[in-house]
Amino acid sequence: MEYEEFRKELTHKVVEQPEWRELATFVPNKTLPIYNWFYYKEGFAKELVEKLLEMFNTEQSSVVLDPFCGSGTTLVACSQKGIDSVGLDVLPTAIFASKVKTSKYDAEELRKEAKILFRGKYRKVDMEFPKIMRKMINKYALNDIAFFISSINRIENKDFFTLALLNASIKVSYAWKDGGVIKMKKHPTPPLRHLFRRIVYRMLKDVESERLTGKVNIMQCDSRKMDIADESIDAVITSPPYLNNIDYTKLYAIEDYFMKLRNVTPMRSFLENTEEKYFEDMEKVLKELHRVCKPGANLAIVIGNAYIDKEIESDFLTCWLASKAGFEVERVFVLNKRFALKDRTKKVGVLRESLLILKKA
Ligand SMILES: C[S@@+](CC[C@H](N)C(=O)[O-])C[C@H]1O[C@@H](n2cnc3c(N)ncnc32)[C@H](O)[C@@H]1O
Repeated sequence: MEYEEFRKELTHKVVEQPEWRELATFVPNKTLPIYNWFYYKEGFAKELVEKLLEMFNTEQSSVVLDPFCGSGTTLVACSQKGIDSVGLDVLPTAIFASKVKTSKYDAEELRKEAKILFRGKYRKVDMEFPKIMRKMINKYALNDIAFFISSINRIENKDFFTLALLNASIKVSYAWKDGGVIKMKKHPTPPLRHLFRRIVYRMLKDVESERLTGKVNIMQCDSRKMDIADESIDAVITSPPYLNNIDYTKLYAIEDYFMKLRNVTPMRSFLENTEEKYFEDMEKVLKELHRVCKPGANLAIVIGNAYIDKEIESDFLTCWLASKAGFEVERVFVLNKRFALKDRTKKVGVLRESLLILKKA
């Protein structure tokens, strides 16, 4: 079957679902315990994962895969339901945040360490910061960051406190992720040490109140070649990077500084961002997904369309590649529609953001 014919048949499977629009975004997670330990603009909502687990009748014995796990939304939601999951990503910050969110902690121990951290007498610590941090974070906050980095080095649960410190540092910084670039937006900021303390105690409360029972396995791995056994996965819930020419490694420059402290190293192998390369990479990912999924496995993929000189229907094209890889397309839920803009203002088309529901035959 040719693509045009496939596309025509596919349109019968398209369902408008605008009431799920916000679920394709990270916004609802901002107020949720654990989910809000790290703000990830590219993330989707916990509630979306819960709806999909229900739609797929996911059993407790299942293993769910998110090959683009980002900040770990799928992994946390599965673990809260007692379902095991596997998460892959290439971005150090994503791997780190996902690991910190899904680790098991001894709350008592964390409280003791927090006390040590905040009781410690403040002293000036000399530390070299990269240019981006010197530009985006005021010098008082930088002094606090240096002090806390050296204090965290002396306690056990370094990752937990480093994520809190990273979170506080991002909040006081003037860095603003606008599309694919970091811009400077000055705003009044509370003293970093107060903010950091507030964040730590809020996270501690979450550790005490939330129960994560499903096992989580997170790997820094390129999803074009997954380090996962054949036919071992029951369901996939994911959202790949969109075709948008964004170089994420540049956007996460401040976060990367903290990653280096914790020895999480960069891995520069994103899905390439030219149209041709993007779909070549997507084809590789879909073939890998077919290999690792059990027969009958359900897949949910959130993906947005792009405009690069013309409208590119990433949702339908991904369905086409998926069907060639051996998946059946069951539904395409259209969650969102936004205007494609040229020169940032001129409306040149409408772009869908869709949820693809596939099944391995
Ligand atoms: C749209 S985000 C996923 C967000 C996630 N659903 C959440 O709620 O946080 C896409 C993720 O894919 C990751 N990624 C990009 N290329 C990858 C590759 N080749 N292999 C694995 N992960 C990749 C990016 O680092 C990014 O975290």
